[in-house]
Amino acid sequence: TKGVILVGGPSKGTRMRPLSLDCPKPLLPIAGKPMIWHPLAALAQVSGLVEIIIIGFYEDSVMSGFIKDAKREFPNITITYLREYRPLGTAGGLYHFRDSILRAPTPQHIFICNIDVACSFPLAEMMTLHSKHRGVGTILSVTVKKETATQYGCIVTDPETQQMVHYVEKPDSWISNMVNGGVYLFDKTLFDEIKVAMDDKTARAAEDPLVKPDEILRLEQDVIVPLAAAKKMYVYETKSFWRQMKTAASAVTASSLYLNNFAKTSPELLAKPSASIISPTFIDPTASIDPTAKIGPNVAIGPHVRIGKGARVKDAIIMEGSVLEQHSCVLNSIVGTDCHIGPWARVDGAPEPEAEVKGQISVTVLATEVTLAPETLVRSCIVLPNKSLDRNSANQVLL
Ligand code: GDD
Repeated sequence: TKGVILVGGPSKGTRMRPLSLDCPKPLLPIAGKPMIWHPLAALAQVSGLVEIIIIGFYEDSVMSGFIKDAKREFPNITITYLREYRPLGTAGGLYHFRDSILRAPTPQHIFICNIDVACSFPLAEMMTLHSKHRGVGTILSVTVKKETATQYGCIVTDPETQQMVHYVEKPDSWISNMVNGGVYLFDKTLFDEIKVAMDDKTARAAEDPLVKPDEILRLEQDVIVPLAAAKKMYVYETKSFWRQMKTAASAVTASSLYLNNFAKTSPELLAKPSASIISPTFIDPTASIDPTAKIGPNVAIGPHVRIGKGARVKDAIIMEGSVLEQHSCVLNSIVGTDCHIGPWARVDGAPEPEAEVKGQISVTVLATEVTLAPETLVRSCIVLPNKSLDRNSANQVLL
């Protein structure tokens, strides 16, 4: 078995701005770990998995530090980054690098994970279902609220057999609350199916000048739709947590979902609860926290952060090198790298709404090197890098 993680590239991180201006989306800290660590660590637990291949169109240098650390953490697994020369689409990259993916030891099975979903990665359960049917692929699905379903790939299954009977990527109108969870398990014959899709596209391009042969190839529309029609896809529905991470607000939600999951599955990753630390909270060992501060729950604190006397932090991500001075307060927010929050300043927001309301800011996001003067209040704002604030602000984008 091998695993592939699709990480996309720089142009795709726009909804994570301003955070993605300084930190590429796969490396954003979620529950104290880079976003990509979560699927990678889950893949590394799969019995018999020998190799993890990361495919994207970020510069090699963007991924190299993470890959070095991951190799050290998972020494028995080959970990490689393969860079697309341009965005090839969710199936285009797989096709382009098929020889590398299929090279010895040739995998019978390949897991494919999107980078931007937070979930419990029930990969063993998917494998169990997969080994019981004769389809080409098993997809992770999740049931979402009706209002949000059309933002995802929508799935209709036969409840008796778990066979997928219909798939529509982001339909115009509602067809189902069961959606594509962004994690797949395929037989190696997936590559035959991708080739058919590629040949089909090339043939159509020859006939129709509007279809460009050079275009991207999508796993969802170009491969899974025909697989569903041919009754070759099966569906594993997770009842555990699942969240897509497209926006900064969803990063806070995802971080707390992972922290709560760590509390159940790997409490050693979390800070020990104490009079000042409420679980679940992650604190990097290089961070320094005054014992009179109160931190948590649902907080992740990065390297070299300093938190002063009497500070309060809850439902938040505090990124590397930031300083929260005495009696400052950070709630429902992300504090980017190297920010400075003055004494008695307050940064807060509302929790992420379930269905995101357009144009409304929920959590506050401070980008890199934002400075807040003492006693300033910043509520539900997006603050761009290097900004110094000395006046109260609410519900604004501060440039
Ligand atoms: N290597 C590579 N190359 N990766 C890509 C490319 C590409 O050209 N385009 C997208 N990706 C990666 C993204 O980084 C992400 O991990 C994944 O592929 C899917 O991204 P999108 O194509 O932006 O789709 P989406 O996130 O809007 O929707 C997908 O995920 C949903 C679940 O979160 C679809 O698969 C939906 O059906 C699904 O519900």
